[in-house]
Amino acid sequence: MFDLKGKKALITGSTQGIGLAVAKAFSERGASVIIHGATSEEKCKKALAEANGTDFVICDLSDTNAANKIYEKTGDVDILVLNASIQYRTLWQDVPYDEFEKQMKVNVFSSLALIQKYQRAMVKNGWGRIITVGSVQQHRPNPAMPIYSASKCAQMSLVECLSKDLAPTGVTVNNISPGVIATPRNDAVLSDPEFYKNVMKKIPMAIPGHTDDCIGAFLLLASEEGKYITGADVKIDGGMSL
Ligand SMILES: NC(=O)c1ccc[n+]([C@@H]2O[C@H](COP(=O)([O-])OP(=O)(O)OC[C@H]3O[C@@H](n4cnc5c(N)ncnc54)[C@H](OP(=O)(O)O)[C@@H]3O)[C@@H](O)[C@H]2O)c1
Repeated sequence: MFDLKGKKALITGSTQGIGLAVAKAFSERGASVIIHGATSEEKCKKALAEANGTDFVICDLSDTNAANKIYEKTGDVDILVLNASIQYRTLWQDVPYDEFEKQMKVNVFSSLALIQKYQRAMVKNGWGRIITVGSVQQHRPNPAMPIYSASKCAQMSLVECLSKDLAPTGVTVNNISPGVIATPRNDAVLSDPEFYKNVMKKIPMAIPGHTDDCIGAFLLLASEEGKYITGADVKIDGGMSL
């Protein structure tokens, strides 16, 4: 099960955290994996070695032309995981336009632009897997990060529209919504005991998830076994969205 031999996968934001764990898991199942990061060649090379990947590409997804630049370097892929995102912790009354624009560009527009680019070969081949990474905040609004929450909802809406359109072609489009997963992104806040205690109160399982807890869902949606699943939103959140 979950054999990815012969498949080529691009995972955005795979220098660390969930993206790196997915890259390792795909590579272990036989996929040739392309690592992506925003800025650092050193981080990409380290992740490439850790995940036993085949290549890496560096591109800031807030660049409007990012999809073209990334595609030029990678060529077509069979599996596209749109995992990179940014988030600003700013109350809605104070959100400046540049923060709004940057989150929407990285978290929504780049997903659309990358799907536009990569779906063509998938449709031609009659096989493709597109997985976006959303957030528990699609379901459990967080007033401290209103634009991030909105961007993940917008991305989910795209997934629903595109999955319906692509359904007859053999290309599936799904979203995975993590809850609180221990990654470098939230190292600092989770190491604050008061913050940790308050967050755990919101999670029915009362523990954070780990990157390995996310892998099963990615493997299912990326492989042949997931061929009848499209337009889905898979929550990995210890019940936090309930
Ligand atoms: N961790 C959680 O608790 C949690 C909860 C809900 C949802 N999620 C979602 O899960 C996904 C992965 O989260 P994570 O915690 O693993 O993230 P992370 O540890 O913060 O890693 C983020 C990755 O995205 C890349 N990235 C950041 N800004 C970018 C930009 N402007 N352009 C291109 N790439 C960029 C980073 O590359 P560099 O290394 O080059 O900066 C890095 O590889 C995200 O979509 C996040 O919203 C996470």
